[in-house]
Amino acid sequence: MTGTTPHVNPLRDPSDRRLPRIAGPCSLIMFGVTGDLAKKKLIPAVYDLANRGLLPPGFALVGFARQDFGDNTFAKMIRQAAKDGARTPWSETVWKQLAAGIRFVPGEFDDDDAWERLADTMAELDEQQGTGGNHAFYLSIPPGLFPVVVSQIKKHGLAESTQGWRRVVIEKPFGHDLASAEELNRIVADVFARESVFRIDHYLGKETVQNILAFRFANGMFEPIWNNHYVDHVQITMAEDIGIGSRAGYYDGIGAARDVIQNHLLQLMALIAMEEPVSFNASSLRLEKQKILANARPPARMDLHTAQAQYLAGWAGGEKVRGYLEEDGVPDGSRAETYAAIRVDVSTRRWAGVPFYLRTGKRLGRRVTEVAVVFKRAPHQPFSKNDVEELGQNALVMRIQPDEGVTLRFGAKVPGTTMEIRDVNMDFAYGGAFVESSPEAYERLILDVLLGDPPLFPQHEEVELAWKILDPVIQHWRKDKTIDTYASGTWGPPSADAMMARDGRTWRRP
Ligand code: BG6
Repeated sequence: MTGTTPHVNPLRDPSDRRLPRIAGPCSLIMFGVTGDLAKKKLIPAVYDLANRGLLPPGFALVGFARQDFGDNTFAKMIRQAAKDGARTPWSETVWKQLAAGIRFVPGEFDDDDAWERLADTMAELDEQQGTGGNHAFYLSIPPGLFPVVVSQIKKHGLAESTQGWRRVVIEKPFGHDLASAEELNRIVADVFARESVFRIDHYLGKETVQNILAFRFANGMFEPIWNNHYVDHVQITMAEDIGIGSRAGYYDGIGAARDVIQNHLLQLMALIAMEEPVSFNASSLRLEKQKILANARPPARMDLHTAQAQYLAGWAGGEKVRGYLEEDGVPDGSRAETYAAIRVDVSTRRWAGVPFYLRTGKRLGRRVTEVAVVFKRAPHQPFSKNDVEELGQNALVMRIQPDEGVTLRFGAKVPGTTMEIRDVNMDFAYGGAFVESSPEAYERLILDVLLGDPPLFPQHEEVELAWKILDPVIQHWRKDKTIDTYASGTWGPPSADAMMARDGRTWRRP
């Protein structure tokens, strides 16, 4: 073949989705590689991608940390983390191929010599492993360390290359309020071009979250009722049964609202509320989400439409568990909230008058994330009051996890001689409909970073709009001298129930 594009296969249609998307030669350089997230999620996801054949032979994984590991000890740690956390079966052949590209660079983040060693390692990988000058820096570190790492990347000329691409991946939290998020964005934007920055909100990597778009925009029957003529309100719940474990250092300064509502739950809300995008490319998708976030209002009466609380000792999974204040590393008298609930109103023609209730908490009854779209009652009931006593409001529930699927709740006649009507559920379960099991969110997101595919990554505008919604709530809470409590294993504090009751509604029991 002649010409300047020898690698293009004329028989291959790039829009053909039956062809797996495989990353090109590159390396993933991880900062914070000894942390919990890396061990539990990122490393297993890299292994699973390799095992699924989605990483190229010219792939490398580089760790940069202050520990004094050699390449071998580091590779052992990676192997153990991959083995413990992998979703797909273990294969020595896959591991051997992956291990050939594993390197470790010891050093402090402010040590220039260490950065020179990193630069050498990258050059050596390009040469020996064939990474082609393509490198992604994965920052799984506390935001306080961002300035030093990002400025070192710049200082040592690692953010640019005449050959290949450079990208940066940023884990949350994206700041702790609007001002700090803006500052963080300035720091990153000074070094990396907008299209090279990949902010991770791992909820967007979940299949069931992406399915919200498929469900809404691929089907004809839901969109006509997806508005304030038919929808009464929306409840978005992310409940966890675990406590904070060993994460006090991170969690205590953050609390539930900043940890989860600012990112995951507001993103879910945006996907539920947005208009149909012109296309599913990154800019169209982000534009529609941004319109929702820009029109979303924090509660006008914070005292009436927010609730926050901290877990006390109680029961979880049949075991007695400690309260938040007794957890390791939590300072005496901490007022960090482990439960947060807020009402958000979206001022658009479609959603005016339809509250979105967002709640999250640790040590709740069970682990479940769901979005429930609750419909208005039928305008007229031609049945006797007794017959419809057991009839609730119709609801469409997107079950994000762990029991992935969709439930439709509606009334049906109880078999018998009377016209008694009661709520029933109609279920779609992923497990029953598809043979493939869903990949982990991080598999999808890491692959997208390596492919340079941006739709699932929020840009700084979305992050800042989300802080604008949350900042006033947090400021209001900080004025309180005390914090409400709830027993571990329950569904949260009475104040959250009272918040719903004021609006004449109740929380669903997921
Ligand atoms: C993270 C939060 O973003 O999401 C954690 O920081 C939380 O506190 C986690 O436990 C939950 O993720 P998932 O995917 O298990 O719902």
